[in-house]
Amino acid sequence: MIDVRRLQAAVLALTGRDVAPYKPSVVRRRVRVRCREAGIPGPDAYLELLEAGGDPARDEADRLVRALSVPVSSFFRDPEVFRALEHAVWPALLDRAWAGAPVRMWCAACSRGQEAYSLAASFLAAAERAGARPALRVLGTDVDAGAIEAARAGGYPRESLACAPERLRRRYFEDRGDGSAVVGPELRERVRFAVGDVFDGVARTRDLDLVACRNLLIYFRRPVQEALILGLLDALRPGGYLVLGVSESVLGRPWERVEHVDPERRIYRKPARGARSGSRTD
Ligand SMILES: C[S@@+](CC[C@H](N)C(=O)[O-])C[C@H]1O[C@@H](n2cnc3c(N)ncnc32)[C@H](O)[C@@H]1O
Repeated sequence: MIDVRRLQAAVLALTGRDVAPYKPSVVRRRVRVRCREAGIPGPDAYLELLEAGGDPARDEADRLVRALSVPVSSFFRDPEVFRALEHAVWPALLDRAWAGAPVRMWCAACSRGQEAYSLAASFLAAAERAGARPALRVLGTDVDAGAIEAARAGGYPRESLACAPERLRRRYFEDRGDGSAVVGPELRERVRFAVGDVFDGVARTRDLDLVACRNLLIYFRRPVQEALILGLLDALRPGGYLVLGVSESVLGRPWERVEHVDPERRIYRKPARGARSGSRTD
């Protein structure tokens, strides 16, 4: 079995990326996959390759980091979550918009932007139905610079929009007629992207209405998950919403610090000042 600590040290030295937050089981699985793909006999030989240093080691460490990042996403991934947002979250955020406050969201680990654009489209459609014109700002961040470049370009294969409701697809995306679709101007002017590591970005962001961090925590060790969730909560204003992936949840220390708005869809709220937490709200 590979010595994960030695592997972490080698990857950090070669790439500058700290893979210590990842569960050892996830790291071992990815190393096995990389061994198969690269024709390396096994984990011991893999570690030797990295520890030998030089270009081959750097290239392989980069590949391992990319494999750990799992840049898989799609528009309106887990559509039931977006239905739950429409029902349980957008009305509260629209109340703020009616009161003249801008609505600010952060999509952390946004991959190629699909989730950030989906949140914006879903909220704007709800606002339009209600006759509101909110000042909406969505920031998508990801540690993968290539993913952020793709997010800014905003072009996607048409099938990646398969889960998008038909009316939203027509309203906010332009079909290019060649099997691809491009994000339309209403979303582009409200959604911005930046390269960012979620571990660094958390401390700088404050007073947000919603933070979505989906399908990233699942790869991290439990204490890392807890610390990260506490950091994400710090980025929210009191009464702001946290959305995790459907295979993730608020456990341990942060559990007491949230209201459980829709625990099945992993929607939580940071209590308004003075409110009780750790309870279900619906
Ligand atoms: C499985 S995708 C999830 C994308 C999207 N949130 C979703 O649920 O469809 C995980 C993303 O997390 C990004 N990622 C991994 N480690 C990160 C980190 N430390 N900070 C920010 N993003 C990270 C990866 O580059 C990848 O795009």
